[in-house]
Order: sequence, then C-alpha cells, then structure tokens
Amino acid sequence: MITFLINLIQQAGAICKAEQSNILPSDVTFKTRKDLVTRIDKNIEDFIVEKIRLKYPSHDILGEETGRSGFSSDYIWIIDPIDGTTSFLHQQPFYSISIAIQYRGQTICGAVYAPRLDELFYAEKHSGAFLNGRPVYVSNADKLINSVMATGFACLRADAEFNNLSYFNKIVPQLRDIRRFGSAAIDLCYVACGKLDGYWEMNLNTYDIAAGAFIVEKAGGIVCDFNGDVHFPGKGIIATNSRLVKKLLENFK
Ligand code: IPD
Ligand code: CA
Ligand code: CA
Repeated sequence: MITFLINLIQQAGAICKAEQSNILPSDVTFKTRKDLVTRIDKNIEDFIVEKIRLKYPSHDILGEETGRSGFSSDYIWIIDPIDGTTSFLHQQPFYSISIAIQYRGQTICGAVYAPRLDELFYAEKHSGAFLNGRPVYVSNADKLINSVMATGFACLRADAEFNNLSYFNKIVPQLRDIRRFGSAAIDLCYVACGKLDGYWEMNLNTYDIAAGAFIVEKAGGIVCDFNGDVHFPGKGIIATNSRLVKKLLENFK
C-alpha cells in the first residue's frame, strides 16, 4: 500500500505544482467568508479518489471536498487534497497533499507531500517516519525557551467564540520563536523531523491531521489533545516531543 500511496501523492503533487500559477479568481469558491476552496482542490481530490477506486474498489473514502463514500470496509482513506489552500491561492509554497489509510480505525499508512518544497513525508505502521527516504525523528529540545513552534488559526476562520489568541499570547513569550506556515499537515511533519519542536491548533478536522499526526508518532513524538488525552483534533491538537509535552500542556489548563 505504501508504494501505491507514495506514487499517488507524488502524482497529485505534480498536478498541484503545475496548476498553482494558473489559478484564476473564477476558480475560487467560499465555504465561509475566510474558508476558501479552489477548482484544483476538487480536481486533486477527484484524481486521488479515482485512482484509489481503481486499485481498492471496496475501500471507504473520506475526502475534505467530497465527504464520506462507503461505510462497509475495514479500510478507509482520509484525504486532504490541498492542505493550505490559502497558501496555494496566494502563490506561496507552504501547502501539501495529505493522505492517511486506516484499518479498523487505526492508521496504518500516512503520507504528506509538499510539492513546492520537494518534501515527501511518510510512515507505515511497522516502520518509522521518513522524509524523502531518510529516517526522521522529533527534536530533543527540553526547554520551551529553546523551542521554535508553530500554530494556526482555524478557530478565527470558523469565527469560534473561544479561540487560539489567548493561548498564542500566553505561549509565544515562553518560546524562542513561533511560525505560522499555513498547512497543519506540514506543521505536524515539521515536528516529526525536528524542524519544529512543537505545534498546536484548535478547530481542525480529521482530514487535516490524520497523516501528519501518524507521522509524528512514528517519529517518536507525542500527539494529544489540549487535556493531554487522545480526543484530537476535536479537543484541540498538540504535537511535540516527550520532554516538552508536559511543559506545553501547562498552558492549556
Ligand atoms: C487549513 C490549513 C491551515 C489550518 C487550517 C486548515 P485547508 O487547511 O491546514 O494551516 O490553520 O485550520 O483548515 O483548509 O487549507 O485544507
Ligand atoms: Ca486542511
Ligand atoms: Ca484542504
């Protein structure tokens, strides 16, 4: 499966990369005033779903743009065709394709591909995590003041009454620095490979984080909700290493 997944995500990424500069205003529609989707998001998801259907016709699929199809298989494919659509539309490089495969509710394969960055992250259940074929691991940072972390503001996009700004104002002064790249999947994979020491966000969906969270765990990291439990992303999501997790969680009490 991992070979098929890697080939598929690389094909999808090549289409994204080729199409990014061709985007027109007429290609953009709005789910909400800030949550936009482009023709390419939908085309990429259709491309991915078509290839999965040909290879694994009985599997279930959950895609951000087309929703859930099939409710009978032990296998489900979880797809975010473009994670970071805002970055994509604004001709920035921080966007990715994210695909995870679950078997009976447990993730067994995950891949995140950032075509403009030429970074392909993947992991399998019985393997570690890899970036472009090289094993990767979370950082060894053990102090917040020596850490660079990332977050996002899906909450503001959702006009959520309770949002991330209070956490942002509380945590950022304790850090070396903060990043807001624009793709939760890349944020998670950057934690997995040690380019970030931690990440947190609220108001995400399963398709945003399924592959990236799995890759963090296979890279020796910890993924939990804002209570330190496993109810992510519904109750927030935190990804970091074992030395920082308690110190970071202190800020969510
Ligand atoms: C978004 C990106 C962004 C995060 C948003 C997500 P989308 O995904 O991951 O970084 O802050 O909450 O929705 O909408 O571009 O697929
Ligand atoms: Ca997303
Ligand atoms: Ca998306």
